[in-house]
Amino acid sequence: MTAKNIVDLYISFFKDKKHKQIPNASLVPENDPTTLFTSSGMQPLVPYLLGEEHPQGKRLVNVQNCFRAQDIDEIGDNRHTTFFRMLGNWSLGGYFKKEQLPWMYEFLTKDLGLPKEKLYITVFDGYKEIQKDNESVKIWEEIFKENNIDPKGRIFYYGADKNWWSRAGTPDKMPVNEPGGPSSEVFFDFQTPHDTRFGKKCHLNCDCGRYIEICNSVFMEYKKSTDDSLKPLSKKNVDFGGGLERLLAAVENKQDIFQTSLFNPIIKAIEIQTAKKYTTHAKEMRIIADHFISAAFMIANGVTPSNKEQGYILRRLIRRASDNLGSDNIYSILDSIIGTYKETDPQLIENYEFIKNTLYEELQKYTKLLIDVTQFIKSRYKKTGDELKGQIEISARDAFEIYTTHGLSPTQIKSLGLLFNEQEFAEKMKEHQNISRAGANKKFAGGLADHSEKTIMGHTATHLLHQAIRDVLGSKIHQTGSNITTERLRFDFNYDKKLTDEQLRRVEDIVNEKIKENLPVHFEIMPLTEAKNLGAIGLFDEKYQDNVKVYFIGNKKPYSAEFCGGPHVDFTTKLKQVRIIKQENIGHGQRRLYAMVG
Ligand code: ALA
Repeated sequence: MTAKNIVDLYISFFKDKKHKQIPNASLVPENDPTTLFTSSGMQPLVPYLLGEEHPQGKRLVNVQNCFRAQDIDEIGDNRHTTFFRMLGNWSLGGYFKKEQLPWMYEFLTKDLGLPKEKLYITVFDGYKEIQKDNESVKIWEEIFKENNIDPKGRIFYYGADKNWWSRAGTPDKMPVNEPGGPSSEVFFDFQTPHDTRFGKKCHLNCDCGRYIEICNSVFMEYKKSTDDSLKPLSKKNVDFGGGLERLLAAVENKQDIFQTSLFNPIIKAIEIQTAKKYTTHAKEMRIIADHFISAAFMIANGVTPSNKEQGYILRRLIRRASDNLGSDNIYSILDSIIGTYKETDPQLIENYEFIKNTLYEELQKYTKLLIDVTQFIKSRYKKTGDELKGQIEISARDAFEIYTTHGLSPTQIKSLGLLFNEQEFAEKMKEHQNISRAGANKKFAGGLADHSEKTIMGHTATHLLHQAIRDVLGSKIHQTGSNITTERLRFDFNYDKKLTDEQLRRVEDIVNEKIKENLPVHFEIMPLTEAKNLGAIGLFDEKYQDNVKVYFIGNKKPYSAEFCGGPHVDFTTKLKQVRIIKQENIGHGQRRLYAMVG
């Protein structure tokens, strides 16, 4: 059974249960200032989990490409990857625990054929006002009994740190309006010996890797309220996520996911390239494979290496992978990555040249940077001779400056033969991390806290802007991307000239007129063909959609009709005013506008 077979079985299992398949969303989320990457299948569904109506109904299924930056440091073990594919099914206020848990067991044991005796379960042990999840325990006990398995010793309670799921983590970390809920996870037992370095006794969540969590059903029925308590959502939802790579490891009974049929060809290519063996260099090879896979997917999704946001993460991945590889000759590895994923992700083939060139240029830049940094230090410390191989002692301050200005990690700096006081460096690093963490927390909380206000305003303003740009520049213009933060909105569209001041002013004037007219905003769910006949515009993926959600601004003869998930303000005066602050050429015949709302 291949990874592709698992995807197909899963999708058809849930389609048989009346689920509609929704598309794999972009790895770089649109209109979500709180996160750089799509890191779970539920992310594009947040408005629907919070109560918006989904055009495809209450039962959804998909496979979502995900990237988790927070796992970068864990890469190198038997089960973590930064890029992975998540099988997801959702109930938006429809079925709940008593359907979800038996279905999951059926899928794992019948469709995938996993041995029943190797499956173990965890459930939520309660937190403050939220009771422990005895209901799930009862359901699991029944399931095991019906399948002639003794439930004793199979089901374990864990606290909110393990069995509560929200994008922000435990309940205390959830910002206002964030949805979350108790989860029930399934673990697969590889029956490998326990490693006592990870504790005296082994248990399901032990880091020795004997048990791997293969899937997770989240009962998303709460949201964080302004008084910091958890309040029930208007509807009880199910948010399920199953890691495809881990499910494959269980199916193939390979405790190391990098040894499965999915990763095997990539590891082989790395072995050939490095003339080393996986058995003795597993950690490096896992890092190389994982980081280049993530890099290929990011580039295929339009990310290019830079010093900020997504581009910065991509840069770190490429550099770390190449450090571990010890070379910039990555092309046979890239080919094996494309070969592995081409069936499920043809976008990698479509973007092959772009991925290859981007990696090539970045690796060239990196090589040059390493030389430049060494030259710079040499000149500062007035060393001559064979310094590239020899060692130069530099101050921790200089080493830290290299880290902050060029993004070279301490290991990379040391590999250039530059020595410094590591303890002093670590102290500076800690200080720096505390500052950035405070900033990041603020950004996360700020983003979501304002979700109900600023972001929604930005969203509606984008629709007005889209239509106004078409009024001024013609109906061939369409949106190619957008990004909304609490501070500003960004809008990309296909136009290869600079807009004149006069054109910009007209666009802005039209938008502000429509705001003043106080037009009502509402949505309708309708068949795709009907929406197209109405002339509704917008970014949408036709692949799986029979019904679409269209937002109208204005009633009888609406000013704007656009495909969109929402949510939006109800009347346009809520936007107060929109000011265009900047335009940019972003290449490929596209322009970008920045605007402030409110
Ligand atoms: N959203 C849940 C997860 O990512 C299913 O594990």
